[in-house]
Amino acid sequence: MAVRSVLKMGDPLLLQVAGPVTAFDTPELHALIADMFDTMTALDGAGIAAPQIGVSRRAVIFGIEKNPRYPQAEPVPTTVLINPVIEILTQETEDGWEGCLSVPGMRGVVSRATHLRYSGFDQYGKFFTREVRAFHARVVQHECDHLDGILYPMRIKDMRQFGYKDILFPEM
Ligand code: NI
Repeated sequence: MAVRSVLKMGDPLLLQVAGPVTAFDTPELHALIADMFDTMTALDGAGIAAPQIGVSRRAVIFGIEKNPRYPQAEPVPTTVLINPVIEILTQETEDGWEGCLSVPGMRGVVSRATHLRYSGFDQYGKFFTREVRAFHARVVQHECDHLDGILYPMRIKDMRQFGYKDILFPEM
């Protein structure tokens, strides 16, 4: 399909609450998901949400095998998640560094719940649910935030832990 350009922070579309996907297993939805994968792969991302390529619909993809952007991260299965629902299963949170294709070159520390259940549909309309922890849970929260118009810098509590990746992590 195609590598699409990624909207950057400041674009008002990234602040919108995205609408639900209402039709599954359609050429349009398969094309959207294919473009999201092509774009994420080209930019070495861990995940991407449809609004980031300009489509205000509740669809995200994510997956990490061995990602050079996240060298210490545990693997996360390649997933298409549409119309997601998240249920937080713990009060416990953990601070961790995040980046985002819409905030290129930056990293910031965000506190996220460490244990949750998510459910939703794949691109064929098949329902699924998973209970996950740690980095997998972080990725899901980050991507699903995009569907509600939330970018990770809006969740940083200590702005001293926000900066340019090249300066923060010169060895990477
Ligand atoms: Ni992001």
